[in-house]
Amino acid sequence: MTKLSDLITSLDIKPEPNGLWSVMGVNVEVFAQHLHTASRNRVRFQPYHPSELTALDGLLLAEALSTHNNPHLLLQQITEHLKPASTLLIIDWQADGPPTYGPDFDARFKKGWLSRLLREWGFGQVDTLEHHPVYYVVRAIKGPSPSLAHTDTFVEVAHLDDLPGNSMQTVDVFGHTVVIANTGQEIVAFDQTCPHANGKLDKGLLRRQNIACPLHGYIWNIISGEPLFPDDEDCLRRYCVKINEEQQKIMVSLAPPRRVDS
Ligand code: FES
Repeated sequence: MTKLSDLITSLDIKPEPNGLWSVMGVNVEVFAQHLHTASRNRVRFQPYHPSELTALDGLLLAEALSTHNNPHLLLQQITEHLKPASTLLIIDWQADGPPTYGPDFDARFKKGWLSRLLREWGFGQVDTLEHHPVYYVVRAIKGPSPSLAHTDTFVEVAHLDDLPGNSMQTVDVFGHTVVIANTGQEIVAFDQTCPHANGKLDKGLLRRQNIACPLHGYIWNIISGEPLFPDDEDCLRRYCVKINEEQQKIMVSLAPPRRVDS
């Protein structure tokens, strides 16, 4: 069977991870070499051992989840013991990749579910470094979520009349492309980029509080951010909206949603 190390010829990880790392999984020597190269030889390695997790600055799980008999428990134990600010890199098979590559589907650990779990387990920064049709590379850093610049500042983005019920449009908020949508009940703001594989949600189908992505048809609730179909995906990133009633203006900040008095 094809191994991920046969498909991945380099790791593009920036900023380069420094410090003490371990690699766990399949063909660990190959991935250690990739990490070494990506870090310009600034990474030191020690063999993986669960009792050494607290000493690590970084851990790479290479095809480790899809080859473990209890990947959920493994991931939980690892995330519990890694120290703050350490990096967890995960390379594994896409759950919806082609059947000709990789293990049986029920052995694959879904990227969206993985990202969601990592956030819930204390990794404030979770990024998909690569969403390949066959595999994914996810990087998670333990600790609070890095706040975006200007999160306390609201930007005037549209007039209420420009956003009738069941409509949406993209706006720019400090360089971020944000979708504002009117569900008919309330106005919400969320990321233009689909959490699954970077589809453009403003090109999707809005039905009241639900949006279907144009790329694969997955559906999210834009008020709660929860995935509806399938329900084991990552959450949609949402932003704070307030209405200037006097001027009938929609205002958005890059902070997470909360109740704001106008
Ligand atoms: S990119 Fe796949 S559902 Fe959006």
